[in-house]
Amino acid sequence: MRIAVAGGTGRIGRLVVAELEREGHDAVSLTRGEGVDLRSGDGLAARLEGVDAVIDATNPPVADAAEAEATFTTISRVLLEAERSAGVGHHVALSIAALDAVRGNAHYFGKRAQEREVAAGAVPFTIVRATQFHDFPAMIAEWSVIDGEGVVPPLLLQPIAPADVASTLVAAAISAPLQGSFDLAGPRTEDAVDMARRTLAARGSTLALRASWRGAALGIEFAGEVLLPGEDARIAPTTFDDWLAAGAR
Ligand SMILES: NC(=O)c1ccc[n+]([C@@H]2O[C@H](COP(=O)([O-])OP(=O)(O)OC[C@H]3O[C@@H](n4cnc5c(N)ncnc54)[C@H](OP(=O)(O)O)[C@@H]3O)[C@@H](O)[C@H]2O)c1
Repeated sequence: MRIAVAGGTGRIGRLVVAELEREGHDAVSLTRGEGVDLRSGDGLAARLEGVDAVIDATNPPVADAAEAEATFTTISRVLLEAERSAGVGHHVALSIAALDAVRGNAHYFGKRAQEREVAAGAVPFTIVRATQFHDFPAMIAEWSVIDGEGVVPPLLLQPIAPADVASTLVAAAISAPLQGSFDLAGPRTEDAVDMARRTLAARGSTLALRASWRGAALGIEFAGEVLLPGEDARIAPTTFDDWLAAGAR
């Protein structure tokens, strides 16, 4: 099949492109760096010729909730309209587990807007709501460095390996559209502070860590079991320990 990956150079997108190529599909990446701006649609129509399905793994930079809503809405509308014109038969969106449970976070406002556009759009769709990736705690430590320490809030996660997210997105794209969503999670719950410490150590980073909600990139609305997937979640195989042992990349 010919499958386009919006955000095909990103953390997940490049793994999706690699997985598609391994499986013998024809992958087309759509990013600004490759001449396609999904806010304006510049460069998009020509890249969608002959495309059977689109996987959206974009992550546009946004400053606040209003900008997040506007940007994710625009990108989804532009992409879906171009897909409709090109006769694309399936739109697969990468979203986040527990999206409706977390209020007050700008990115989540954007992702809810994205899901609304996809569900209301004219292209048959599947929404894959993944939990946090195995490298997420180390990433948020590096986002909030205070007095030389990376601040990590004490989150309870059921994280997933990025490669398992990519293979699930590819499997979804070559299957019939669900006209709905499913949660996707890794096999075990984990403590974010422990994950960040072990990921940074595995990568040879010397960044010291502080466990705290104060100054952290995520607020107290992420506390407790709020980020855990629903009971019907599909469970991917790779544990955090497996991922660390394979190089933490
Ligand atoms: N991190 C997690 O734990 C987690 C968990 C669940 C779900 N997710 C979701 O996963 C998605 C992908 O995240 P990621 O970390 O893989 O993203 P990322 O590494 O930040 O990559 C973002 C991609 O989007 C492209 N992009 C951004 N703005 C664009 C535009 N206007 N037009 C075209 N392409 C654009 C970027 O390329 P250019 O800059 O060249 O345009 C890049 O290829 C996000 O939507 C996030 O909500 C993340």
